[in-house]
Amino acid sequence: MKVTVVGAGAVGASCAEYIAIKDFASEVVILDIKEGYAEGKAMDLMQTASLMGFDTKITGSTNDYAKTADSHIAVITSGIPRKPGMTREELIGINAGIVKTVSSNLLQHSPNVIIIVVSNPMDTMTYLVHKTTGLPKNRIIGMGGALDSARFKYRLAEAMEAPISDIDGMVIGGHSDTGMVPLTSHATRNSIRVSEFLSEERLQQVAEDTKVGGATLTKLLGTSAWYAPGAAVSSMVQAIACDQKKMFPCSSLLEGEYGLNDICIGVPVILGKDGIEKIVDIPLSDAEKAKMQESAAGVTKTNGLLEL
Ligand SMILES: NC(=O)c1ccc[n+]([C@@H]2O[C@H](COP(=O)([O-])OP(=O)(O)OC[C@H]3O[C@@H](n4cnc5c(N)ncnc54)[C@H](O)[C@@H]3O)[C@@H](O)[C@H]2O)c1
Repeated sequence: MKVTVVGAGAVGASCAEYIAIKDFASEVVILDIKEGYAEGKAMDLMQTASLMGFDTKITGSTNDYAKTADSHIAVITSGIPRKPGMTREELIGINAGIVKTVSSNLLQHSPNVIIIVVSNPMDTMTYLVHKTTGLPKNRIIGMGGALDSARFKYRLAEAMEAPISDIDGMVIGGHSDTGMVPLTSHATRNSIRVSEFLSEERLQQVAEDTKVGGATLTKLLGTSAWYAPGAAVSSMVQAIACDQKKMFPCSSLLEGEYGLNDICIGVPVILGKDGIEKIVDIPLSDAEKAKMQESAAGVTKTNGLLEL
């Protein structure tokens, strides 16, 4: 199983590191446009192998896509991250050009690859890959909900003073500060609804803290986060590589599901060897449906900025 990670920056390197530590892929190629950067990251990571106990071979490449040939899965993290005070949508101008070129280059050398899009604004970048590559919809997956759900669980555990392993919960909708829809009514602690433990007011605070989770970290770090994004991508890559049939909220092209069409937005999907093997259309409350529609309107507006 060969995995390519495009972009050797903060998220790309973290993603490659977690994939290697989990030791399910035979090879990870990191590619970056910056001369020698991916090679350096790959060498540094390989020098952790004997310490961390993995056999995954990690190599780097400066923009040479021949080295990515026959990848099963490719992750696109190339592009600029936001700075404090910026929205993800403001990144569209630069990142759209990068994502378009990168996906086309990847496909030239790996025609059967499954692409995971991370670069922001992620739902729009995922839509762009659909529009420009024409790949079947199961092979283009946007990463946002897996991260947002991990942040939701972190906030729920914090509010309940509970271990995170007790918590289950999911965030669907667009991967933006205003577009995320944390499913508070579905979240549980050991199968008991979290509303049994938290007041409505506290639960709303958890939802709000979740939605601005990325912005909170960007303010603290001066750039966007990388550990949790890298870990979220690595879990999705593992689900596909190991045919786990695991459910994650992912940005997926919708054709009627959730009452939406011609849009990529976060919904629960089953990830297995073919990528998105099923979109899980769960019943939402009227309030959640309304939030999902509002979120979709925001993503559609950003999609309108693409030059297709
Ligand atoms: N979807 C999510 O949940 C999520 C989470 C965090 C970050 N992000 C996004 O991921 C992207 C990367 O974030 P980061 O913090 O790793 O940024 P970074 O600046 O640390 O790394 C980006 C890397 O991309 C490289 N790059 C630029 N153009 C390239 C090209 N044409 N080909 C190959 N490589 C190229 C740069 O040289 C750089 O090393 C950003 O757009 C950020 O907003 C998304």
